[in-house]
Amino acid sequence: MFRQALPQAVSSVDMKEDWIQQKLDEAATRGLTRQASVQAQTGGIIKENRKRILNFSGNDYLNLAHHPHLIERARTALEEYGTGATASRLVSGTLPLHEELETRLAACKNQPAALLYGSGYLTSLGTIPHLVDRHDLIFADRLIHACMLDGARLSGAKLIRFKHNDPTDLQHRLEQHPANGRRRLILTESLFSMDGDLAPLPEIAFLAANHNAMLMVDEAHAMGIFGPTGSGRIHEHNLQSATTLTMGTLSKALAGYGGYICGTALLRQHLIQTSRSFIYTTAPPPAQLGTALGALEILENEPDLGTRLLEKAAHFRKALQSHGLNTLQSASQIIPIVIGDNHQAMHIAASLKEQDILVGAIRPPTVPEGTARLRISLTLAHTDDDIDRATRAIIRAIPS
Ligand SMILES: Cc1ncc(COP(=O)(O)O)c(C=O)c1O
Repeated sequence: MFRQALPQAVSSVDMKEDWIQQKLDEAATRGLTRQASVQAQTGGIIKENRKRILNFSGNDYLNLAHHPHLIERARTALEEYGTGATASRLVSGTLPLHEELETRLAACKNQPAALLYGSGYLTSLGTIPHLVDRHDLIFADRLIHACMLDGARLSGAKLIRFKHNDPTDLQHRLEQHPANGRRRLILTESLFSMDGDLAPLPEIAFLAANHNAMLMVDEAHAMGIFGPTGSGRIHEHNLQSATTLTMGTLSKALAGYGGYICGTALLRQHLIQTSRSFIYTTAPPPAQLGTALGALEILENEPDLGTRLLEKAAHFRKALQSHGLNTLQSASQIIPIVIGDNHQAMHIAASLKEQDILVGAIRPPTVPEGTARLRISLTLAHTDDDIDRATRAIIRAIPS
């Protein structure tokens, strides 16, 4: 019976997928088509034939992705432990390297404990729903990253958004929504990924303490750049005990892959018992652990890498601003240039690409409607000459 029905079922696939084509067409009309284009190399500088391509679209901030020490650490881990962890952490996948990396991460960030996850995205999905549930409240900065938003949605807690980087608005909302027996959780990023600006962490931590709310901070882009030995902004402001949970990724300045949280030993124990994206997945593989350990060693041995990058970024920003470009409140290695229109942002990025300058054109829903932008992500691979060349090209490409 099933065999006879098959030809008809196959021919109806076309019809079933009509809606997909329609959605793709709609996105194209709005200038929102996304592409996973292949790059020849990773890192801030891509050498292709005789060309020196300036890549401002990656997150290899400290130029570590090809660092011999990280590669050596990854190779040693791979040779000693093999290609995969081959089991989940709670079965037989926990290797000495997982524990070593967790201890080193916690020490770097001056926090009592750390726990690894498969990625930053999985970290968020596996933590927020274990801090709050559908009876509780989340107060989230309007611009938090999609992974925190998805973690918040998964928790089922009531989601209240506060104005970006605005502690007064947060205070107002905390007062409007008292605990009344519910748990309350504040979510923010330490350094915002699309605006390059810094959260007022001391003020937010003060509000969290005053209102008896938990605080979770995503340090994805601040790790490696801010704070003592690049340990992040929580450590820089000594807010470890005021922050319930710090999350981060090993995939940006640390040039590898994976996510982590830092917090108390009690919190770590709670997540080991409950966190679904920690429990029901294979443990991070050895090479990834070796890479991260290598990156942390570089941070310890060269503690001024982040400061050097921030100085370069200040010089770049000043040059762009002096030509009237809107770089929002950027105060970091991430420098947005707001264009507004989606098509125009794409057009400018394409014209820069023709000049061997890669800059991300970031459009909704990653950023709010009407704020399409170029996102410059500066790395230590970029020289002062590269910055001057990029500044000239960007100014030429943007119609005044
Ligand atoms: C702010 C922020 N948090 C979390 C993530 C997710 O990290 P991962 O790439 O490790 O999943 C990203 C980007 O990827 C990010 O920009």
